[in-house]
Amino acid sequence: MFQQTSKIVEMENIDWGKLPFGYLKTDFNVRSVFKNDAWCQLEVSDSEYIPVHIAATGLHYGQEAFEGMKAYRGKDGKVRLFRWIENAKRFQHSAKGVFMAEVPLELFHEAIVKAVKLNKRFIPPYGTGAALYIRPLLFGSGAEVGVKPASEYTFIVFVSPVGPYFKEGFNPVKIAVIRDSDRAAPLGTGTFKVGGNYAASMRGIAKAHNSGCGGPMYLNAKDKLYVDEIGSANFFAIINNTYTTPKSESILQSITNMSLIQLADDIGIKTERRPIAVDELESFEEVGACGTAAIITPIGEINDTEKNKVYRYCKDGKPGPISVKLYNTLVGIQYGYVPDKYGWTEIIELN
Ligand code: PLP
Ligand code: COI
Repeated sequence: MFQQTSKIVEMENIDWGKLPFGYLKTDFNVRSVFKNDAWCQLEVSDSEYIPVHIAATGLHYGQEAFEGMKAYRGKDGKVRLFRWIENAKRFQHSAKGVFMAEVPLELFHEAIVKAVKLNKRFIPPYGTGAALYIRPLLFGSGAEVGVKPASEYTFIVFVSPVGPYFKEGFNPVKIAVIRDSDRAAPLGTGTFKVGGNYAASMRGIAKAHNSGCGGPMYLNAKDKLYVDEIGSANFFAIINNTYTTPKSESILQSITNMSLIQLADDIGIKTERRPIAVDELESFEEVGACGTAAIITPIGEINDTEKNKVYRYCKDGKPGPISVKLYNTLVGIQYGYVPDKYGWTEIIELN
């Protein structure tokens, strides 16, 4: 019934160093369904499609959540996952947030490992800056017409080799302050990684792109006085040798950000989670976006057109020294050439 539209790209045609952050068809995905109050055994599929009930709550009421993580091929040839347990726990937090069945941690782990192993030929080589993006998703697949939770859920994990989220990579990007749309409300769904937040962010992303910027900066929805997030990434700033990042009830708790806080502390930099006023943007020495997809993306310029202000950083066109140090340590742990003293990585045995 469904036609396969994407062709598997011939391996020799993949330019690993130039991969965008996008979808590339791989060999297999894995799936499990929750019905009659239990998760079924994982199934492997080579189809990119799923038959979905026309009244599935995921389609109508956005009963959906997803995750984003990566498998990294290291300098030593080994393939590592980074802090997958945190993604698994956040996936449960998101599921709970929109009344879905939670995926047990063991099932999550089994699914991501299986998806990586089955698609091992798509794990980008070391040194290309690319990695295998892992996308777990969960949605209400049971039929309802009233607004209520479904009694059936579908969990899928697919993978795609990707390059950096911002085309600039580890080079300064321009960001636009958004004041005429919000991503998430203070007591809304901002801390859950649910599809609705991303639908809500599309207006801001489009506006940022239309003004020549790489992404949007969201402010707190209530009074627009504080910084929330940079599109699909958390925000951080360095001021007076302090790594500072927003405390807000409407942002996603980034695993990358949580790791950077620890790494900053390790190199003797103070760390602080607190509301960050827009008025402070002027005083920051370094600013950046961080996340699985964004890694650390230094911000070179923030345009606040409505206030007629432009904030400039990276004056010599390069990321600041603390951002560089944090980037090198984080990426070094992920690719296995910096000691992983916290046990954040797990090596996947590919055979
Ligand atoms: N904020 C949003 C809205 C995101 O979508 C993401 C990506 O997952 C992040 C922040 C960064 O989170 P993490 O570092 O866990 O990938
Ligand atoms: C990630 O960093 O993994 C994300 O989820 C970003 C994605 C929404 C594009």
